[in-house]
Amino acid sequence: MQITSQPITAANVELTNSSTGHTPSTVRGAASRVMGREDWNKRYASEELIWTANANRFLMAETADLSPGSALDLATGEGRNAVWLAEQGWSVRAVDFSDVAIEKAKRLATARNVIDQIDFCEADLRSYELEFHRFDLVALIYLQIPLAELLPILMRAARAVAPGGTFLLVGHDTENLMNGYGDPQRADMLYTAEQVIAALGDEIVIEKTGRVERPVQTPDGIKVAIDCLVRGKRP
Ligand SMILES: C[S@@+](CC[C@H](N)C(=O)[O-])C[C@H]1O[C@@H](n2cnc3c(N)ncnc32)[C@H](O)[C@@H]1O
Repeated sequence: MQITSQPITAANVELTNSSTGHTPSTVRGAASRVMGREDWNKRYASEELIWTANANRFLMAETADLSPGSALDLATGEGRNAVWLAEQGWSVRAVDFSDVAIEKAKRLATARNVIDQIDFCEADLRSYELEFHRFDLVALIYLQIPLAELLPILMRAARAVAPGGTFLLVGHDTENLMNGYGDPQRADMLYTAEQVIAALGDEIVIEKTGRVERPVQTPDGIKVAIDCLVRGKRP
């Protein structure tokens, strides 16, 4: 699969407090522990945002032409994407299993005057049931969990897309392990667009798929992370 890259400019380099939210590892492919709810809570414990308040660039680009309706942001973290969607006029449900992250997301939404447009929900996506055909947009941005746990979540997410609605996933691609920047450095927590599409079955008609590059500012200069992107629609 081809990698879509753009020229690196000041405008498209990501400035984050952390590249991905996973503790940097120096050993590629090393088996580190999967982060559970309490690990994420500890990670989010600082007052500052561990990521950025800016929405993910691919979410912004891929939803720019959509008419705002109801959106579901799965694994919302500190809420940067949910807040941005609400600012664009979407009515958002934002789900994460970290209560600490949800509190930070609520603070961000309050500061940006969109708290009333977001329904924050603390839940574990591995057991979170979703209404069928309910949302005009279902987004999963960097939910990196073992593939066996991710696949049923993807199926439920796809079924939650309303007729004419959009499914969007952005994740750290398997290719990133050897050729890109940032964590997680576990092969079983990385995936490809092909694996995501296979899980969606015939629920979603795929419109765009592939690997995309995301330049990141690091202490050692600009590095490039490789993400996978899948966007599709329910007819
Ligand atoms: C790398 S962060 C991404 C946050 C956000 N989507 C963003 O782009 O800023 C991954 C998020 O997934 C959440 N998460 C991981 N496993 C989860 C699960 N089983 N159920 C709900 N949330 C989960 C974590 O709490 C964390 O906030």
